[in-house]
Amino acid sequence: MLDIRGIVKTFHPGTENEVRALQGVDLRVEDGSFVVVIGTNGSGKSTLQNAVSGSAVVDEGTILLAGRDITRWPEHRRAALIGRVFQNPFSGTAPGMSVGENLALAERRGLRRTLRRNASLRSRDALAERVRRLGMGLEDRLDTEIGSLSGGQRQALTLLMATMRRPELLLLDEHTAALDPRAAEMVIRVTDDLVRGGKLTTLMVTHSMQQAVSLGDRLVMMHRGRVVADISGAEKQRLRPGDLLDRFDAIRRREQIDLSAAEMLRETYI
Ligand SMILES: Nc1ncnc2c1ncn2[C@@H]1O[C@H](COP(=O)(O)OP(=O)(O)O)[C@@H](O)[C@H]1O
Ligand SMILES: [Mg+2]
Repeated sequence: MLDIRGIVKTFHPGTENEVRALQGVDLRVEDGSFVVVIGTNGSGKSTLQNAVSGSAVVDEGTILLAGRDITRWPEHRRAALIGRVFQNPFSGTAPGMSVGENLALAERRGLRRTLRRNASLRSRDALAERVRRLGMGLEDRLDTEIGSLSGGQRQALTLLMATMRRPELLLLDEHTAALDPRAAEMVIRVTDDLVRGGKLTTLMVTHSMQQAVSLGDRLVMMHRGRVVADISGAEKQRLRPGDLLDRFDAIRRREQIDLSAAEMLRETYI
């Protein structure tokens, strides 16, 4: 289980560039739950993922993963428990190495050196079988340089690599945003297969309202560094993209009201 309690992150505090990226986020994700995260630009979605992975250190609050308090762990130590996939299909793999070499590396990642030496690693046939299950025909291309594959193919392989050692948590940050619609659809199918097939605890950020309603068992909406909606169960299943757009509109309207109220106050008191 991932248990985030009251995390706060402010960039450039006390300067004119101060950004309060996370303003007290609580989020508990049960084992095997697939949580989709949406939110306006700059609402703190990536910072939340960075706080969990350790690439951003929080100012306040605690983060527990699989019963361990990882709040102060360095990023590389957390990497043993966490798989990540980013937006850029070129960031997750080593372009000059073959598909098979990338997969073999991914299998060893996060293992301590002694463990690495003694680990019983999958044979080439077993790796090929994993690739075959992606349903993309890449099992015949284990010796191809991964850099020569398309963005969608690379992103699907990056997903496989991130989940190969069955992480305690999988973090996906708009991992289809840079792909054309067909490739995005293919990567989403692979995502759903791997996450649900492996019952992986997952936090997936997306900009796509369609993905937000059709994937996962829970939806979290962020705005200005806070969780403003948390929808699961039957309500999640009933959600349509229009419902989400309505909620965003409601937030925007409320902010405009707050803004004009603030202006009125200023006019009254200054
Ligand atoms: N490393 C950083 N340094 C300064 N400001 C940052 C940094 N990372 C994020 N921010 C700011 O924090 C806010 C939240 O950013 P982010 O979490 O990337 O939003 P999202 O992923 O929801 O679009 C934004 O205003 C962004 O500009
Ligand atoms: Mg982001």
